[in-house]
Amino acid sequence: MSFRDRTVVLGVGGGIAAYKTCELARLVVKGGGQLRVAMTPAATRFVGPLTFQAISGAPVLTDLLDPAQEKSYGHLLMARVADLFVVAPGTADLLARLRAGMGDDCVTTAALAMTCPRLVAPAMNTRMWESAAVQENLSVLRARGWHVVGPGAGQLADGDVGEGRMAEPEEIAAAAGRILGPRDLAGRKVLVTAGPTREPIDPVRFVSNPSTGRMGFAVARAARRRGAEVVLVTGPVELASPEGVRVVRVETAEQMARAVAEEVSSIDLFVAAAAVSDYRPRNPAPRKLKKSEGDETLVLGRTPDILAMVGEVFDGRPDAPVLVGFAAETEDLIENARAKLERKRCDLVVANRVGAPGAGFGGDRNAVSLVEKGAEPREVEGTKDQVAEGILDRAVALLPTKRPGREA
Ligand code: C5P
Repeated sequence: MSFRDRTVVLGVGGGIAAYKTCELARLVVKGGGQLRVAMTPAATRFVGPLTFQAISGAPVLTDLLDPAQEKSYGHLLMARVADLFVVAPGTADLLARLRAGMGDDCVTTAALAMTCPRLVAPAMNTRMWESAAVQENLSVLRARGWHVVGPGAGQLADGDVGEGRMAEPEEIAAAAGRILGPRDLAGRKVLVTAGPTREPIDPVRFVSNPSTGRMGFAVARAARRRGAEVVLVTGPVELASPEGVRVVRVETAEQMARAVAEEVSSIDLFVAAAAVSDYRPRNPAPRKLKKSEGDETLVLGRTPDILAMVGEVFDGRPDAPVLVGFAAETEDLIENARAKLERKRCDLVVANRVGAPGAGFGGDRNAVSLVEKGAEPREVEGTKDQVAEGILDRAVALLPTKRPGREA
């Protein structure tokens, strides 16, 4: 199993299966991965932190309140560098605390800060495993996007026989490999736009929309995970820069267009996830406008269409990147998406039904239709990270025809 160029953060819980987690740690390192380990206080009673330190070659986080360990916000640093977070063993107590969103040790605090995929390998006695509380906690974690591996059935440490045995290290490593997915964008350059733009009316007011940037950020993160060099041009959002991604922060559509123009040469894939304002006030006031009794009229002019501009620049050229656009529509979703394929010379349009439950602006989840020329729309639904992977799966499939000979 290869973990080359990947950072796996391992959260070790306090159960007897923690000894098997050492083997999992070894498999990650053997596979060429970077490994960082955080342990709950209970876990350190089963396996010494020194063991994981020796395997990972890095200090192990064990104490949230240790000034030395937390000198550089250890638990947050882990969340920033992680490509995958694996909790093993996931004890009943640890599952409950993860579900509740507690931050009472370095494993749970790191978990709260993780934006990468998360995998848990539950391990406990059969009767505990079958309890309603544990099952409910796990189903909540699943709904939040956690992956689960195991547990298996067999002889347990306490002599009971049944389900509850932690999955074997090889099985957890294989699940980790599946989640990390292919590095099919290695050697590729990907440009992503995200977030809203703000078009000033005066120095304190602007025209904008409620885009949070989460979908575009998820695409940038996923492309990075898949090995691409990623540049993310984003409007004003309250999201931290993804690790390993070059982020260019802009305000207006004009600035976004300029930033894209600067980055666009030699890209393989352009994903335009930004909700660019289509209009801007024609004459923004240099000073704050005073309110008056009557109505005000705001004269709006069009902003540059960034995606269409990129499509036009590369039209017919052999170095044209794969172009992915988004379509947020309230009606005639698929027809509008097909029209956008043509109009903006896109290879793929991600159609988003605005107002549908579990889709669109804000929120962690999305439900979209992927529309391509000459193919039935493909539905993708899940967390924004999962939807991002689905979009990239299709984009990667289109790469060889559009940008041949560049496979890593
Ligand atoms: O035409 P419409 O705004 O529906 O198109 C949406 C798609 O076009 C999105 O991919 C969006 O990022 C992109 N777009 C753009 N520049 C604009 C308007 C939209 O890049 N000014």
